[in-house]
Amino acid sequence: MGPGDLSEALCGLQLPFDPRVICGMESLDDAGVYRLRDDLALIQTIDYFTPIVDDPYAFGQIAVANALSDVYTMAGRPLTALNIVCFPLKLLDISYLREILKGGLDKMAEAEVILLGGHTVEDAELKYGLAVTGIVHPDQLLMNSGARAGDKLILTKPLGTGIINTAHKAAMASDKAVRIVTESMSSLNRKASEIMCRYTAHACTDITGFGFIGHAANLARNSKVGFIIHAEQIPLFPEVTDYAKMGLCPGGLFRNKEFYSGILRFEKHIDTTIVDIFFDPQTSGGLLIALPEKQAEPLLDHLHREGIPDAALIGEIVEEHPGIIQIV
Ligand code: CO
Ligand code: CO
Repeated sequence: MGPGDLSEALCGLQLPFDPRVICGMESLDDAGVYRLRDDLALIQTIDYFTPIVDDPYAFGQIAVANALSDVYTMAGRPLTALNIVCFPLKLLDISYLREILKGGLDKMAEAEVILLGGHTVEDAELKYGLAVTGIVHPDQLLMNSGARAGDKLILTKPLGTGIINTAHKAAMASDKAVRIVTESMSSLNRKASEIMCRYTAHACTDITGFGFIGHAANLARNSKVGFIIHAEQIPLFPEVTDYAKMGLCPGGLFRNKEFYSGILRFEKHIDTTIVDIFFDPQTSGGLLIALPEKQAEPLLDHLHREGIPDAALIGEIVEEHPGIIQIV
C-alpha cells in the first residue's frame, strides 16, 4: 500500500487512548512503544513481505533483518519474535519454507533474538516476516520528533534496493550488483544502532518502503524542522543510476514520488534520475540519524571503523521551511 492509504483507512475511527502509550497508531514512528515502568518500555513492531530475492535462505535473513530494524531505530533491544508465514502449499515444496525459516533463525541468532512461536496460513502468495518485541529505557528512546535545527544527518546504508531488485527481475542486473544489495539487505542495523547509542542522537528512523524522501519527510515533519540534503553525498549502490536511467524502477517509486513530491525542493542542476532514486522503496535500508554537529564526524568515523563503510554525512537540519526537504 502507498504512504497515504493507511491514514485514509484510519480517518474518522476512534483510536484508543492510554497514558502509558508513548508511540501509538497516530504517531509516524517506526514502532509502537508502551511504558511498563518508569525505567522500562516495550517496543512492538511487525513486518512481512513477498520474496525479493531468488534464494529462500537469503530471503529469510532479509525478512528478519528488516523486521528487527524498527526496534534498532528507536535505540531499543529486540528480545523475542514470532514468525508470520503465508505459504502456497500447492505451488512450492515444503523444503523451500525450511530454507526461509533457517535463514530467519540464523539471523535471529546473530541478533540474539529468541523465536517464541508464530502463525502459518496457506496462501496463494508466499510471505514471511516477524512480529518483534523489544525493550528500551524511556529516557533512551529515540523518536521521529526529536531532530533539531543545527543537527547533522547521517545515513548508514546506500540507496537503490528497489531498483536493483527490479533490474534483477528483468534479468538486467549484474551478479555483482545483486550480491552487494543482497548482503546489505541481510545485514542487521544492530551495530549501527549500538554505536549511535554511545552518542546523544536526537532522532532516528530507518529507510524502508516510503524511500529516502518519504522517511526523511516524516522525520522533518514530526520534528518541525527543514532538511538540506547534499545529493552527491548520498551513498548509492553500484549501477543503480544506470538501471534507473533505463527505467528499471519499481511501481512503489512512482507512488512515493506522487505522494511526497510536494515537500521536495531541488535546484535545476540536480539530475532528476538521482532524485528518482531518492524515492526508491528500500527493503532493510539503513538508519537515518540526526545528531548535534559536533558529534557527526566522530560518529561517522566510529561507524566506518566498526565495519559500516558506506555510512555518510548527507545533510543538515535548519529552522527554515519546516517539513520541506531541500536537495542541493
Ligand atoms: Co521503520
Ligand atoms: Co516497519
